[in-house]
Amino acid sequence: MFARSAAHKLASARQFSSSAARHTNVTVLGAGGGIGQPLSLLLKLDPHVKKLNLYDIRGAPGVAADVSHIDTASEVKGFEADKLEDALDGAEVIVVPAGVPRKMTRDDLFSTNASVVRDLATAAARVAPKAHLCIITNPVNSMVPIASRVYEKAGVYDPKRIFGVSMLDVVRASRFLAAIVGADPVNTPVTVVGGHSGETIVPLFSQTPASKGVTGEVYKKLVHRVQFGGDEVVQAKAGAGSATLSMAYAGARFANALFRGIAGEKGVIVPSYVRSPLFEKEGIEFFASRIELGPNGAEKIHPLGQLTAEEEEYLKACKDGLKKNIQKGFAFLE
Ligand code: NAD
Ligand code: LMR
Repeated sequence: MFARSAAHKLASARQFSSSAARHTNVTVLGAGGGIGQPLSLLLKLDPHVKKLNLYDIRGAPGVAADVSHIDTASEVKGFEADKLEDALDGAEVIVVPAGVPRKMTRDDLFSTNASVVRDLATAAARVAPKAHLCIITNPVNSMVPIASRVYEKAGVYDPKRIFGVSMLDVVRASRFLAAIVGADPVNTPVTVVGGHSGETIVPLFSQTPASKGVTGEVYKKLVHRVQFGGDEVVQAKAGAGSATLSMAYAGARFANALFRGIAGEKGVIVPSYVRSPLFEKEGIEFFASRIELGPNGAEKIHPLGQLTAEEEEYLKACKDGLKKNIQKGFAFLE
């Protein structure tokens, strides 16, 4: 399972900042938003970050000025709307929380966000084609195929370097299971596979020993809560957007794992929605599962492992949904 210690390192960044080798130049696209701002803050605390470029069509210089006063050694720079290419110049990791959050379903924001991701991916493919691209923008299930096709058309596609960030599902699954069994979430890591929306999110609780006694209705409710956890936040925010703080945390944790993989650390495993061979034969080119990170990105895609009959049923529904989401992404570019 991916390292929980990343979170602890983030929390004590001051302590680490003087001794750790800072090695990665990071660009955040959408840095002025609800996710972008706290994510930029957390990236400023990450001991692996050397340079932090913050870009948005609104407000990035302000966020950059604010974050830049934090006393860690990374350099922060903000970029105005017409400076996208400058913001991407030299990037090794690009994190994208740009776009609109949903009001109803994740699909209601499809066309706006598809245009945003297409345009940002086009610029990234031109200016920083070797950078690792981490897509947070929803619907992730369709945005990753869109960015991938843009890179393909630009002749620079490396499937190992484009990631859909599905980390929040794993964070939720672990937290929700821990609450039921009365454990510390550190001891209830959960593998979540499939995609990032509703029934495409498939938590594999059977692979977490602590979930042994969680069965029947309690189990079904738990799976539903993980699949529709985003709805809880959307409803509670009552029209003011979707999850931002928990997503910033999940995004920073994902980025931290990527930085460690790039630096050559072995055994760094995270969940991510990537180009995947797992169900390619069934026409599903992208799939989230546990992936092993290295200097070249997603260097190994782990198989799902053993599933219960119930999990197989969830997986079936997931595949139907994913296939449509992927096709919708490709169709947008045609
Ligand atoms: P937000 O509206 O608060 O922020 C989005 C930011 O993107 C804004 O500052 C906006 O100016 C900027 N933006 C829009 N178009 C841009 C462009 N072309 N270039 C650069 N910046 C641009 O929204 P948010 O709450 O931060 O959510 C952002 C996205 O993340 C949404 O699509 C949301 O659905 C998604 N999200 C994903 C997950 C996940 O698990 N992957 C979780 C939560 C939210
Ligand atoms: C989430 O899971 O919280 C995000 O995908 C935002 C949303 O639209 O629910």
